[in-house]
Amino acid sequence: PLVEFLNFEVLEDHGWALEDEDLFEKAADANLRSSDFGRFYVDPNDTLLEAAEKNGFAWPFACRGGACTNCAVAVVDGEMPSPASHILPPDLTEKGIRLSCIAAPVSDDAKIVYNLKHLPEVSELLL
Ligand code: FES
Repeated sequence: PLVEFLNFEVLEDHGWALEDEDLFEKAADANLRSSDFGRFYVDPNDTLLEAAEKNGFAWPFACRGGACTNCAVAVVDGEMPSPASHILPPDLTEKGIRLSCIAAPVSDDAKIVYNLKHLPEVSELLL
C-alpha cells in the first residue's frame, strides 16, 4: 500500500480538523516539512509503524503491542484493520482511529494522520 501521511500537530498549528474534506489537499499546498507530510510504501508483513521507521520517520510509540495508544493514527482514507486485542475503545475505532504498531493499511492507497496521541480522546487513554 502507498500511504500518504500528515502530522496531527500540523492540523493544530493551521486550525485544520480531521473531518476537513480537503485536508490532504490543504497539506499539499502548505509547504510542510517532509517529516510532517509525505508518502511511503508499506511492505507486506510490516506494520504501519515499522514502515514509517524504515522510511526514516520517527513516529511516536511506546509498547509496540497494542496496549498504550502512543502510536495512534487516524485513517482518513483507505482501509486499515483493527485487531481484536488492543486498548482502543469502540467509539474511537468507529471514527477510524487505529494503532500503527499492530496493523497496516490493506487498501492500495491510504491517507493517514499520525501523532493522534495529541487528540484529547486519545491522550486520555495514554499509559
Ligand atoms: Fe503502544 Fe502501539 S505503541 S499501542
